Amino acid sequence: MCGIVAYIGQRDAYPVVLKGLKRLEYRGYDSAGVAILNHGLHVYKKKGKVAQLEDFLTGKNMQSHIAIGHTRWATHGEPCDRNSHPHVSGDGKLAMIHNGIIENYALLKQELLNKGHQFESDTDTEVLIHFIEEIRNSNQCAVEEALRIALKRVVGAYVIVIVDEDNPDTLIAARKGSPLVIGVGKGEHFLASDASPIVEYTKEVVYVNDYEIAIVKADELILKNITNERQTPYIQKLDIELTAIEKGGFDHFMLKEIFEQPQTIFDSLRGRLDAKNGQLTLGGIREYTDVLANARRVIIVACGTSWHAGLVAEYMIEELCRVPVEVEYASEFRYRNPVVGPGDVIIAVSQSGETADTLVAMESAKAQGAIILGVCNVVGSSIARLSHAGVYTHAGPEIGVASTKAFTAQLAVLCLIGLKVAIEKGSISQQRFQHLLDELQDIPEKVGLALKLNEQIKQVAQKYKDARDFLYLGRGYNFPVALEGALKLKEISYIHAEGYPAAEMKHGPIALVDEQLPVVFVATRDSFYEKIVSNIQEIKARKGKVIAIVTEGDQIIPAMADDVIQVPEADELVSPIISVIPLQLLAYHIGVSKGYDVDKPRNLAKSVTVE
Ligand code: M6R
Repeated sequence: MCGIVAYIGQRDAYPVVLKGLKRLEYRGYDSAGVAILNHGLHVYKKKGKVAQLEDFLTGKNMQSHIAIGHTRWATHGEPCDRNSHPHVSGDGKLAMIHNGIIENYALLKQELLNKGHQFESDTDTEVLIHFIEEIRNSNQCAVEEALRIALKRVVGAYVIVIVDEDNPDTLIAARKGSPLVIGVGKGEHFLASDASPIVEYTKEVVYVNDYEIAIVKADELILKNITNERQTPYIQKLDIELTAIEKGGFDHFMLKEIFEQPQTIFDSLRGRLDAKNGQLTLGGIREYTDVLANARRVIIVACGTSWHAGLVAEYMIEELCRVPVEVEYASEFRYRNPVVGPGDVIIAVSQSGETADTLVAMESAKAQGAIILGVCNVVGSSIARLSHAGVYTHAGPEIGVASTKAFTAQLAVLCLIGLKVAIEKGSISQQRFQHLLDELQDIPEKVGLALKLNEQIKQVAQKYKDARDFLYLGRGYNFPVALEGALKLKEISYIHAEGYPAAEMKHGPIALVDEQLPVVFVATRDSFYEKIVSNIQEIKARKGKVIAIVTEGDQIIPAMADDVIQVPEADELVSPIISVIPLQLLAYHIGVSKGYDVDKPRNLAKSVTVE
């Protein structure tokens, strides 16, 4: 939700920032802007994607050793040049980029209007930079001091970076609730919302903590807390490679990430699963397996695709561990005053580790005494740091806005957690445990086989791409997969799609069925097989078009479905990791065939850091 990037050092700053903005564009892409210092402050901004800003700036003198840049996902004010970042102070000397929301901006704005400030935009960000300017002028203090005073009054979440015409060798940044990474180079520093704009220049980074202020010069990084005490920057080594954040010959990041899944699932199991010796190691939650085994309740909080992974985990953990599991939309959980406390274990599932709704839900449950475990993809993210313990999914950077490889890695890790707790608790037989370890071990290969269906799925996509609505149905472990398939299609093809438990369909959605409606059944061979065969017949009896995802060798469903996609056989507990693959590809090909930018679907952003 908005990407920020800044540079100070010996290089030409604008190209570094522009490239960084392109890497961060997945976070928001309705407008973009940069500010540089070159005989004064120059700010340029444009509605649209970063490429439009780049075109606009071609031929301009952009030379500077310092620059800040922003790619926006609008919160306050429509996407337009005027509302784009950077925003400037009334005297035109300070420019600021911001990711987050200033919740009390209206009150601050009124105070500033009363003092004669004038605003050009509808944004909360412009209010904040004017507020800092006002404090600086009335207290006759430095910007750093004014920022500190201002932040004590600010309610909300922010990462901000300020450039000051009167102090051209310094960037000032602050963080609360949104991510900020500082890359440490030789005589240069890079600031960004994540490490992707930094990794090609340096592997040494500092993750700034909440309530910290960074004073960044080319050759010096000073970190202070909000009460002005120096903090020691903790330099960490990045473990991502440049290739992980480039398309590598694929047309889209989404397709690359779909095809990476045999490897990413393997990575999520590596060092943890040792099927040959019947061993499973989860160092991250070693001290909490007992707590999980004896939990009064496990509550999984998440949003979007991660919430779907949580639903699959509900089935897994209840079956394996015999512990009651609830799966909650993080946004609802937090605000409905839930009964939660000691004895409850919260599992927060998140790709980005920065989703505001999930973070807030965790904070509130933690304050009430629950144990918090995180299942995150981004190492060092806010959710990872707020958790008592956790397991990383190790899927590598996911750049396509529609989540794919993060989902299958989450399923693999959540399955490992369920198995680990079950074997320690004794709620699973040794034989079933070993069988599931073997099944998990085979998953990367089976996912590879499912990917071979790409061309066939592309043809199915051509056949149905003009449908107005889709229905996705599944039962048991495949019900959340149906939800995920529908979400993928909605996100990137803008076709209305609903996911439903197949049996629930006859309690309402069946009224939608006619010869125009494609119904995607996730109907692999599992304990619900006979039941779902009946559901398929109910749809066929009403002339619906059936696209069925079935297990290889199935003889029954192909005889009744309009289109059949056969995936490798797997135990039902791990089958969602395979059955979701054709649904990802179907959504991808429909989105592409309609001419949409599947990596940056309209109105969306990769990381939703506002509540
Ligand atoms: O980073 P998170 O996993 O916490 O993100 C949660 C959702 O915002 C995310 O899954 C979203 O629904 C994706 N666009 C799904 O493709």
